[in-house]
Amino acid sequence: MGKKKLVAGTGKLWSGRFRERTHRLVEAFTSSLAFDRRLYAYDIAGSIAHCKTLEKAGVLTRKETAAILRGLESVRGELDAGRFHFVPQDEDIHMAIERRLTQLIGPMGGKLHTGRSRNDQVALDLRLYLRDVLGLLSGRLATLQRAFVQQARTHLDVVMPGYTHLQRAQPVLLAHHLLAYVEMLERDKGRVRDALARLNVLPLGSGALAGTNYPVDRRYTAKLLGFPSVTENSLDAVADRDFVVEVLAALALVMMHLSRLSEELILWSSQEFQFVDLPDAFCTGSSMMPQKKNPDVPELLRGKTGRVYGHLLALLTTLKGLPLSYNRDLQEDKEALFDALDTVLASVEVAAELIAGLTFNRAVLAKASGSGYLLATELADYLATKGVPFREAHETTGRIVRACLDRNRDLRDLTLADLRTFSPQFEKDVLDVVTVEGAIERKAQIGGTARKRVTARIKALEGALK
Ligand code: ARG
Repeated sequence: MGKKKLVAGTGKLWSGRFRERTHRLVEAFTSSLAFDRRLYAYDIAGSIAHCKTLEKAGVLTRKETAAILRGLESVRGELDAGRFHFVPQDEDIHMAIERRLTQLIGPMGGKLHTGRSRNDQVALDLRLYLRDVLGLLSGRLATLQRAFVQQARTHLDVVMPGYTHLQRAQPVLLAHHLLAYVEMLERDKGRVRDALARLNVLPLGSGALAGTNYPVDRRYTAKLLGFPSVTENSLDAVADRDFVVEVLAALALVMMHLSRLSEELILWSSQEFQFVDLPDAFCTGSSMMPQKKNPDVPELLRGKTGRVYGHLLALLTTLKGLPLSYNRDLQEDKEALFDALDTVLASVEVAAELIAGLTFNRAVLAKASGSGYLLATELADYLATKGVPFREAHETTGRIVRACLDRNRDLRDLTLADLRTFSPQFEKDVLDVVTVEGAIERKAQIGGTARKRVTARIKALEGALK
């Protein structure tokens, strides 16, 4: 045996087997304190439940329990008030809190960590944190949905060109277009709910990796913390971060939806489209070109999407080569998760205000809906209802459009006599049937753009989002 050189005052809670103090660079390199301090309230809540569980198991006396609980409350008070003094040796929030607890109540503080590891502790903290923050996110997604529904309700009379391939295709209600985003957001909320249900499991009691020697009642801990169930495999419980991946994937999809929305707002507010005016308060000017009003907010929403996608891919990559169970690599989950959550929470919040502040240009939308051969499909369907096979009707209508293009005319410029030169099946009623309003109202099946369908959906959503 080599002689044991005592390393006094390393300040580490794990310093027992070490002969050298931690290198200053390593201290900084390994520290997660800068970002995991946001978990402090969850860490303390977890410690309180753990302490009570230890008491129930007979590991802590009543007196010890009371002292630890009181100590934890004091630490919480310091952290809440911003009075907590972190030291570089703290390494992470778990150690910081335990170090301070022991300073406050003496060596008895060291009993709190009985039967627990930072590995199951951090897995617990993340789950508690996500339960809170995902609730907040769902609320903000609902606020954004309400902004869309409100705009849809106000613009039930407005028709616009619907697009495929960014080419004018068929007329739709502006409300129908807006509600498309509400459906996307509904699925986004569903994904958040699914992720929440799967992560709502207590990992504490898994120890470092193998479980715990102490007769703790894990179901009791779960009950104290509001978890419906406990993890069934200790190795999995400390090594698993798939719940963080699921959350990041759900966040990436939220951003994808916001990004598509942003792209439309950027296009629609351009001089080329002029479908919509963005609120001045959401735009910026140019320092050089006095006429400019730039759509910075949707641009940033679109831009931040890449950042959130990046976090998802970063964590997937971090996880792919890790042997069981805990590895320090897992500490990298937090900055990705926190930044993605901060980004998405802010994005959804600002998007809701932006949508509520949009002014649609009714005249421009009406004009755009009346031109561009948007009714060509209606004309083909008209012939089909007169018994012409749809393929033939399509071909005939195509020739009509071609002729109009050649003569620089629009479909609505054609008279019945003009139409009959293409097909004898055209009758007087064609001029009443083939209209923008008719085109809208005939799309009357579930999911179609007919006004009564859209109105019904608005009503249902208003009820559900109350
Ligand atoms: N800061 C660590 C993390 O975020 C906590 C767990 C540390 N565990 C360990 N065995 N070093 O993952």
